[in-house]
Amino acid sequence: MSWPSLVDIVDVTPRDGLQDEPSELSTAEKIALIKGLRQAGIRRVEATSFVSPKWIPQLRDAEQVLAGLSEPDNLIALIPNRRGFERALMTTVAEVGFVVSASPKHQHDNLNMTLSESLHQFRTIAELPNTRGLRLRGAISCAFGSPFTNERIDPAEVATIARSLVQYGACEVSLADTVGIGTPNFVTDVIKAVQDAIPDTPLAIHLHDRFGIGLGNVTAALLCGVNTFESALGGLGGCPYAPDAPGNLNTETLVGWLHHMGITTGIDLIALSEVRRTLLNQLAVNAHTKKGDTA
Ligand code: COA
Ligand code: ZN
Repeated sequence: MSWPSLVDIVDVTPRDGLQDEPSELSTAEKIALIKGLRQAGIRRVEATSFVSPKWIPQLRDAEQVLAGLSEPDNLIALIPNRRGFERALMTTVAEVGFVVSASPKHQHDNLNMTLSESLHQFRTIAELPNTRGLRLRGAISCAFGSPFTNERIDPAEVATIARSLVQYGACEVSLADTVGIGTPNFVTDVIKAVQDAIPDTPLAIHLHDRFGIGLGNVTAALLCGVNTFESALGGLGGCPYAPDAPGNLNTETLVGWLHHMGITTGIDLIALSEVRRTLLNQLAVNAHTKKGDTA
């Protein structure tokens, strides 16, 4: 077997990990979390999202979080529409991940528009004056399975979506197993279809984990040559608009497993554990004392 010797982790704890938590972190705690992740050696962090605060109240302080961070070169923010892009432009964030879904029902429930409306928004965004040189990436939710009965995800359709995102300006495409139901065989089929469609564009894989299948899917993706994975501390995370979504693949589990397999990540697992301990403790304390206080 041959696979990459170096893997990049995009830690999505501050965005995906917090977006569906009943307990909230204060803005200062979010900033400290991101600093801790970077100090532990995480090179890319999905720091927040510029979505409607009515849809995801937990991330309503996106601008304030970014304002508290220097050297924003490795920070990503998720956006769902042009308004999100315009908000991102007003901050220092270096990269935005434009989200669409391969599941028509999730696309509707999560974004309140059709896939073609979303892709049109992305095209419009890519044509706007990008005065700060914001990097654009595309994120395809439910790429490896749908949470809804009667919906089947077709690898060819995922590949078509990826091709459109790249044609319009995405420099990287992230394929998400939003509900943790991909299997290694299907993950391989989807990745191969997407690689055929966009052979020159780097891929990232965003995994949620059910029954430990996440690591099986990492193996499948590594064997396809993918070397960027997205995960969250403590296995937190989930989309409030995807029923029964399990947490993200746990970053510590992923990093520990990669190291054990002889793959380099540049991440200090002991420092990462400390960040996770602080985070889980803060969430537990805030659940009782200051829920909703973002000061
Ligand atoms: N940031 C902040 N506010 C936004 C926004 C954004 N990116 N996009 C729209 N809004 C505001 C509008 O200004 C408007 O505000 P108002 O009621 O005060 O006038 C309101 O939201 C409704 O705007 P509309 O365009 O009709 O949005 P919508 O209600 O149809 O929702 C989305 C569409 C895309 C904004 C919403 O579905 C969303 O934020 N989805 C993201 C969900 C998510 O993050 N899921 C997890 C990650 S995959
Ligand atoms: Zn996710």
